[in-house]
Amino acid sequence: MGKRVSESDVTSEIIVLPGDTNMFGDLYGGRLVEWMDNIGSITAFKHSRKKVVTGSIDNLFFLSPIKLGYIVHLHSFVTYTTKSTMEIEIDVSSENVTTSKSNVTTRAFFTYVALDENGHATEIPEIIPENDIERKRFVDGEKRLELRLQALKSVKADLK
Ligand SMILES: CC(C)(COP(=O)(O)OP(=O)(O)OC[C@H]1O[C@@H](n2cnc3c(N)ncnc32)[C@H](O)[C@@H]1OP(=O)(O)O)[C@@H](O)C(=O)NCCC(=O)NCCS
Repeated sequence: MGKRVSESDVTSEIIVLPGDTNMFGDLYGGRLVEWMDNIGSITAFKHSRKKVVTGSIDNLFFLSPIKLGYIVHLHSFVTYTTKSTMEIEIDVSSENVTTSKSNVTTRAFFTYVALDENGHATEIPEIIPENDIERKRFVDGEKRLELRLQALKSVKADLK
């Protein structure tokens, strides 16, 4: 049985504190990736209701810095599924609290693999795209999957 995108769509906001920044007052990239992985895993749990692990992160670009005291907005949703994996898009923007001006800062695709109690990949519900935007994301997700599998194969061969 399939599941709709809206059933695991998650948004969250977090304010950048001094412990999250470097000496220039900008948010650490690694901290942002941690927050993205956190919200992405919530989407993956809600979609699969299984144990999940992060398998890969694609197309992660930091487009503009996020400053101390800014609000970070995160949005996470399933774009594509295979038998046991979920491709999840995570969009990030930042908001200046005093001016309310908002900037798109990052977008990436996290792939989570669902595992059974023995740690083996296990089946998940397929995603059901319901509108033109979701259908386009699904088609694009299929293309990204092909590239990801090629990259995974080549990394495994290189590291042998
Ligand atoms: C991801 C992991 C479970 C895959 O194990 P595996 O034995 O290679 O799994 P399989 O070959 O049975 O592949 C299962 C599915 O995952 C996909 N897959 C495997 N490794 C993947 C990866 N690194 N990234 C994305 N997809 C992956 C396969 O294409 C397959 O897809 P399917 O649904 O079409 O069948 C394993 O490599 C692992 O545990 N990695 C570490 C995960 C981790 O620690 N993450 C960080 C902390 S959460």
